[in-house]
Order: sequence, then structure tokens, then C-alpha cells
Amino acid sequence: MKKFYITTPIYYVNDEPHIGHAYTTILADVLSRYHREAGDEVFFLTGTDEHGQKVSQAASERGVEPKKHCDEMVIRFQNMWKKLHIENDHFIRTTDKDHQEVVKEILQQIYDSGDIYFDEYTGLYCVGCERFYTEKELVDEKCPQHQESLKEIKETNYFFRMSKYQQQLIDYINEHPEFILPKTRRNEVLGFLRQPLGDLCISRPKSRLSWGIELPFDSDYVTYVWFDALLNYVSGIGAKKDDKQFAKWWPADYHLIGKDILTTHCVYWPTMLFAAGIPQPRTIFAHGWWLSDEFKMSKSLGNVIKPLDLIDRYGVDPVRYFLMRDMVLGQDSNFSPDGFALRYNSDLANDLGNLVGRISTLVRRHFDGKIPEPGEQSREETQLVESGSTLAVEAIELIHEMKMNDAVETVMEYVRSINRYMEKLMPWKLIKSDKAAAGTVLYHAAESLRIALQLLHPIMPVRTAKILGMIGASVTELKSPWGQLKSGSKLSEFEVPFPRIELNQKTKQAKE
Ligand code: MSP
Repeated sequence: MKKFYITTPIYYVNDEPHIGHAYTTILADVLSRYHREAGDEVFFLTGTDEHGQKVSQAASERGVEPKKHCDEMVIRFQNMWKKLHIENDHFIRTTDKDHQEVVKEILQQIYDSGDIYFDEYTGLYCVGCERFYTEKELVDEKCPQHQESLKEIKETNYFFRMSKYQQQLIDYINEHPEFILPKTRRNEVLGFLRQPLGDLCISRPKSRLSWGIELPFDSDYVTYVWFDALLNYVSGIGAKKDDKQFAKWWPADYHLIGKDILTTHCVYWPTMLFAAGIPQPRTIFAHGWWLSDEFKMSKSLGNVIKPLDLIDRYGVDPVRYFLMRDMVLGQDSNFSPDGFALRYNSDLANDLGNLVGRISTLVRRHFDGKIPEPGEQSREETQLVESGSTLAVEAIELIHEMKMNDAVETVMEYVRSINRYMEKLMPWKLIKSDKAAAGTVLYHAAESLRIALQLLHPIMPVRTAKILGMIGASVTELKSPWGQLKSGSKLSEFEVPFPRIELNQKTKQAKE
């Protein structure tokens, strides 16, 4: 049995969950489910980032203690993930006692080995990013993420000798082509590493910020949030606490991140791991952004898409489907309500929904609601069986290459080929002259559809399970061989699986 350990970034507990957070988490969930359903042993970790200035500020604005503030805020993420059918194995909070102890232990270890030193520092700090910027990194003298002028801060602090590991990191990236993906991001990191790498300020004086993990070697300071947060990936699986559990899961197979947090994950994190003597994760994969009507979503632009609004309107599984189908992993994608509606209607309501409806209606009307006998296979059936047998292999290979949208499209193309098969053999006409032949067509259409649904199950776990019942089948393993659907098995009640969305006039015209 293979193991598969996947992580999402841990989200700032202050934020209200939006489509960007939901996307990374759904992607991790879908990949986890693919691996689980293929028989692998999976550990899927997500959680919240709860220390730092932003949290402390928000708590004081609300007039509550930071920990209480976090306890109240974290529920929004936890509830959202439940709603979105996320099956994570653990939810880590950086305020968890275990996590804090691991951070302290690793800090002490790095301090003892001489890679942490005390010094005075002047730097430009962005509260939004919770990090210092160098002049070179600024755009128009402003933070490139928040477009805000930065404050110069001068203070004594502890520093991590990140610069010491620059060459080791460059060599590691060059020797491990799978370490940072996609390739464009790998090149971006290598480009960044062409400039001399500075050391990393890893503390904040308590006089300025007290909400954080106290340094084990100086009680006047707390740990810098990123140094704290990144360690969740090892503390979440028992580092320094449970050697057996840690050895079982580490190294992570995938750290999924958005492209906005590339430097912290591909420079800070690997150098921290070098210093702590912990092996590197297998792959850090950076996906693009979801844009809203071509703009990056932000509170100030007022164009943030809230997953709740969408799932209340269209259901969870269609939203999961859309996000997996419409983003080319690594690139930015645009989200618009019309784009969603068009995709939903064409793929789910038409291609998938109509096929289920047709099969179910005919089987209920002419075969007493029970799957007919497969009968003799003609050329058309053989073709369907052949492409159905290779479908899982093709789709899974694409998923391993992180081409999720292509994998979905491959399955949907197969669904369309089942529709074409039905159109060609017309069981609704055949039934009048040759009931057995019509039964053969319906059996093969239903069995092919079952194979396709099984492959869509990790993406739409609830709807596909329901539809499988409507064609007399149930959820099995991912690569289930042809012929699992049993003749005589009873269909469950039919319900339109994906009711059409009425498009507004403007969208209709654009489509025509
Ligand atoms: N707390 C840090 C991460 C620490 S990990 C050790 C953080 N948190 S965050 O709440 O800002 O979430 C960042 C992640 O949310 C991004 O990396 C990305 O995965 C996701 N997204 C946020 N906005 C996004 C879009 N508009 N589109 C897609 N994903 C984006 O950074």
C-alpha cells in the first residue's frame, strides 16, 4: 500500500473563507479521495494560522483576547469544510499546544546548532503579508501584494542563517525537477535565488507584538508567524512527538499552495528543513489565482466570491466540479457566474443529467425498474467497453500529472460518447421491435455511465453516489473493471440530478 501525504496552506484565521481558500482545500480533498479510492493510505492536513499582528489587531478591535477571537473565528473554516464535503484527517491550529511545543523544540535545535543569532535590524514591514520586504521586491515602492506603502521598522531581533543554505537549495532544486512545480514557478524561484539571499528575521519583540509562540531561548520575544506556521506541516503528523507516525507520513507528497506564497514555501521552508536536518517534501505545487471578472479578488475591490453563496444556489458538488474542470493547474482562471452557469448546463445538466434521465426512464418503463441483461455485444458495444476499460488509467495518469481539468474532460468526453451511442442505437425505438436488443443497449449505457461516475466520485462524492443508485449501482473502487453492474439490480427513485440554470438573456446571446 502506498502512502500519500498532502497539505493545504493553513489559512489566516481572521479571513472569511472565500473561493480561493475553498479551491485549494477542494483540490487537496479531490486528490486525497483519488488516492484513497485507488487503495493508497492517505493523510490530508489543513488548518489555520492563528498568530501574528493581524490576528492580534483584529482581536483588540473586537475587545476580546486573541485566543478567544481565534476560537470564534476558526469555526467559520471548520464549518465551511464540512459543508464542502472536505474529508481532512486532521485540522491543525497553530495555537494547539502540541504544535507550539514542536516549534519551540525545532527553534532550540537550530539555535543550539548556531544557525540563529541576535542582531539589530532595519526593514520595511508589511502587516498584510506579515513579512519584511527588501527595496528590490517592492513595486512602485509599495508591497506587491497589497499595494500599500510599508513602514520602516528598526529593532533587535533573532535571525535565521538562511543565506548559509542558498547554494544547497539551488543544488537541491536543480537535482530534483519535481520539487517545485509547475516549471514556471521553479524557474521563478531559481531566478530569485540568483540574488544573494539574506538571513531571515524570525522573532518579534513582545513589546511590539505579544501574540505568538515565545522563543525558548529568550522570553522577551515571540516567533515570527511564518516560521511558526510552516512548521505545521511536520507538527501535524507528530514530528518530535511520535516518531513512528512522523516516519510513516513524512516527506509530504504535495504541499499545495497558491502562487502568492511561493517564496515562503520554496525558500524559507526548505532552508528551515535543511537547518533542522529534516528531509524535503517531494513536491511543492503552486496553483494560480481565481480572478473575479478578470481581477484578483480582494475585500477592497468588493469582488470576493463567497463559496456559500454559490453552494446555496447550486449545491456543493457542482461547485467542486466547476473548480476542478475550469482551472488549468498553475494558471489563473476567471470566475464569473455566467461562466459557471454555462459549464453547469452543458456538462452536468445536459451531458450527464440527460443521460441518467434517459436510462432511468427507459429501464423503469420497459424493464420494471431493473437493469436488463447485457446480451450479445456488437461493434458499438465493444468500442464502448474498450474505451471504458482504458478510461480510468488515462484519467488517473492525468491526475498524477496534475492535469485535473484534462482528466475531467477525458471522463466527460466518454460520457458524451455514451450519449452518441444512445442516439445511434435509439433504444426507445428498438424497444418496439426487439426488447432484448434494447436491453443490451441500456445495459451497456448504464455500465459505461457507472464507470464514468466512479471516476467523478472524488470530485462530486454526494451527487455521483446518488446517481449511481439511480442506475442500480453503488460506489466501488476507482478502477472497477467492466461488468460490475448486475442485471436485475433495482434502480432507486429518479430525481433530476442537475436541474438546469436559467441563463439570462445576455449570456444566451454571448453563447449564440
Ligand atoms: N497563512 C498563510 C499560509 C501559511 S502556510 C504555512 C496564508 N494564508 S491565506 O489565508 O492568505 O491563504 C492563502 C492561500 O489561499 C493561498 O496560498 C491560496 O492557496 C489561497 N488563495 C487565496 N486567494 C486566492 C485566489 N483568489 N485564488 C486561488 N487561491 C488563492 O497565506
